Formats: sequence, structure tokens, C-alpha cells
Amino acid sequence: MHLAAHFPGVNSTTVWTDPRSRSQIDFASFEALARTAERGRFDFFFLAEGLRLREQKGLIHDLDVVGRPESLTLLNALAAVTDRLGLAATVNTTFNEPYELARRLATLDHLSGGRAGWNVVTSSDAFTGENFRRGGYLDRADRYTRAAEFVATARELWDSWTPPEPGRPDAPYGSPRPFAHSGPQFRIEGEFTVARPPQGHPVVIQAGDSDEGREFAAAAADVIFTRHGTLEAGRAFYADTKRRLATYGRKPADLKIMPGVTVVIGDTDSEAQERAAEIRGQQVSGQTALLAAEQIWGRDLSSYDPDGPLPAFDPDPDVRLAQGRVRHADPLAEAARWRALSEAKGLSLRGTVIETTTRQSFVGSPETVAEAFDTFVRTDAADGFILVPHLTPGGLDDVVDRVVPLLQERGVFRTEYAGTTLRSHLGLPHPVPKG
Ligand SMILES: Cc1cc2nc3c(=O)[nH]c(=O)nc-3n(C[C@H](O)[C@H](O)[C@H](O)COP(=O)(O)O)c2cc1C
Repeated sequence: MHLAAHFPGVNSTTVWTDPRSRSQIDFASFEALARTAERGRFDFFFLAEGLRLREQKGLIHDLDVVGRPESLTLLNALAAVTDRLGLAATVNTTFNEPYELARRLATLDHLSGGRAGWNVVTSSDAFTGENFRRGGYLDRADRYTRAAEFVATARELWDSWTPPEPGRPDAPYGSPRPFAHSGPQFRIEGEFTVARPPQGHPVVIQAGDSDEGREFAAAAADVIFTRHGTLEAGRAFYADTKRRLATYGRKPADLKIMPGVTVVIGDTDSEAQERAAEIRGQQVSGQTALLAAEQIWGRDLSSYDPDGPLPAFDPDPDVRLAQGRVRHADPLAEAARWRALSEAKGLSLRGTVIETTTRQSFVGSPETVAEAFDTFVRTDAADGFILVPHLTPGGLDDVVDRVVPLLQERGVFRTEYAGTTLRSHLGLPHPVPKG
């Protein structure tokens, strides 16, 4: 089983108003969570990315906190205070260039002794593009075309150094060979400035759930970060994604499937359920509930009572109040779903948002959670989990102190790191350079 720790940026999972929450920018927070993950012998530490602050009704909308530091810079600093933990950054292929990003990832891999991971994301939205003076420059249809060529080009660059030869102490890193890449997206040539990374290629992760996203992962990724946190959805996603690998001459074990999940632990199952309900209430304040409803209804609802009923009118599907987040595909259908739920369970607007937006994937005693993790992996619903804590940075303590030992007793999770690289933690082969 593989485990990773997510340091959430801005979302409605983290309860930033909790007095135990620390800064989302101060290095001490990142260091504390990473050290906990390493103490738990986790595979990697994972950072999301947002390239523009979200807005709603023209106002900055980041739940409780705003802003986050740049991931690769931060992970390089974490490399110095951790020893074995993999360090994975989400970095977009739409707003970067392969030469520069390959250089920065290779550098992280060198500085960390082979622990770098890259979560390839593909946002192409024009709102984010404005921060790069490229508003609307990439059609949605082209984003995976660019991503696929981007990753392939980065790999060509990492492979462009001849490995060190025995008896050449003057060239301990080998030597650069000229490269030339010519494709529809990129035409670049020269020599690469950084020696081949210790892992050969940093581990490539993919997050995105469309058909194209799954295909891209089957062709090019080592790990998928999914949102499928239930047994049923997990099994369907797992079977579908692993099936696609054969087309690319790959084996099922070559791609690890890791859903992002939350965990709430109590001494007993019922205590954990109570805590989970409390956390759900903290995650969705009245204001958060109104903003969530506005994203569907496309109307200012600030005069509504969050503890009252849902709006009686239907959404306007053509109005977009929120910028910078993935949009509900069909606001009318979503509103109908909310209305049915609210009526069936007698829920207020806020109660409906709590019910529909918060996923507490694993809730129970340490034994219950360990058993559930094991079941997911044994029955092909996941190869492991990316844990998203409710509190930063202390939110993983319970899992590391109370669940990990039970998994170790079951013999399904490592008690010590066997290797030093992220590839070795994940059981992935070391890529052989081409050319
Ligand atoms: C679990 C998960 C996590 C994601 N994390 C990020 C992120 O941190 N930054 C980002 O820009 N996009 C993120 N995305 C968005 C994807 O990269 C992609 O743009 C979006 O899912 C739409 O792609 P799709 O149509 O293939 O699903 C994430 C997607 C998923 C499913």
C-alpha cells in the first residue's frame, strides 16, 4: 500500500478557522507536516497548485485563507529537512515551457537525492491565462495534446546526458549530448544544463478525470491522483484505467492509482462519526454555503438565510459568477439534485451543501480505518491513498500514530523505507535512457 500526504492549499476541506491551524505560507507548517509524513514512512508529500486566486462576483474567494507559495521552491527547502520522503509538485503544462520546467524538476531530483515527483495538470482556462498574458490562448481540446508533448519533451531532455563512464572522475555526472525536439507544440534544440536526474525521470503523476485525462495517464503517468474515494467508484475507475495500459505496452503495476481521501479517527466508530459531523459543520460556514449555492444558481444569494430553504427558482445556466474553479457541467441538473436531497432529508441550504460537498471518506476507530484501507487495496479499488487532512499541519498525527502501526502489523505497509528514491518507494522501474 502506498500513502502520501497532501498539504491543502485553499479548499473547503481544511478548517483554517480552527485555532490549531497554522499558516498556509510559513515554512514551519510545511516542515511539520512533511516530518509527520516521513515519520509515518509515507511515499510522498504532495502540493497542489493554483495559478490565479479564485473570484466570485468579482471578489477574491478563497475559503478563509488566500495565497500560497510556489511549490518547487518550497519542495527544495523541504528536501533539506527530510531524508527519504518523496516530494511531489503540481505544475501546469499550459503555462510553462518544457526546457525550464524539466530543468527545475531535474534540480529538485538532484538536491533531494532522487525524490522528485511532478503532478501534471492541464488547466487552460482564460481566467488563469490572464496572469500569463495568454487569455484564452489554448483551446480546451488542445490542453492534453500540449501536455503529452510537454512530458515527452521533458523526458527527452532528461535523457540527453550520456551516463558517467567508469574511469572518468573528471565527469562524474556524464556529459551533455545535443538534443533537438521538433513537434507541433515545441521546437527546441541545444544542450540541457542539468545532468540526468538520479531517478532517470522524476515520477510523473496525473490528476484529471476526463476520458482524455485517463488516456494521457495510461500512456505517460506513473501515478494517478483521483477523487474516487468510495469502494464502488474506486473499483470502476481502477478497472477502466488499468485496462487502458496495455494499448501503450504497459503493465497494470506501472501506474499506481491513489485517490485523495480524508480520514476522521475516534476511539470508537461512533465517536469518529460525531467528530466527522462536527468537522463537516466547521468546513461549511453559512457564508461558504451561500457561495457554493451561488456557483450553481449563477445569482447573488447574499440576502438568503443559509439555515433556510434553497432558492425556489431555477439557476441561470449561462451565468458564471465563479472564476478559477472547475464548473458544474449542468447547473440545472445539480440544482434539481440538491432540491431532491433537501426535500427528502428536510435539509436547509447549508445542510444540503454539507451533504453534497463534503466527503469524509474514512471515518471510524483506527481498526476500522485500517481495515477499510486494506480492503480498498486488496479488492482493486486503489493502490494507496493521498491523505488530505482537515487541519494543517497537525491533521495527520492520528493516522500516523494510530492507523499506520495497524497497517504495519497487518504487513500491508512498510515499517522502514527500503530504498532512497520515490521510484523505489512506489516500486516503479528506473527508466532506461533512449538514444
Ligand atoms: C484529484 C485532482 C486534483 C487536482 N489538482 C489540481 C491542482 O492542484 N491544480 C490544478 O491546476 N488543477 C488540478 N486538477 C485539475 C486537473 O488538472 C484538470 O485541469 C481538471 O481536472 C480537468 O481535467 P479533466 O477534464 O481531465 O478532468 C486536479 C484534478 C483532480 C481530479
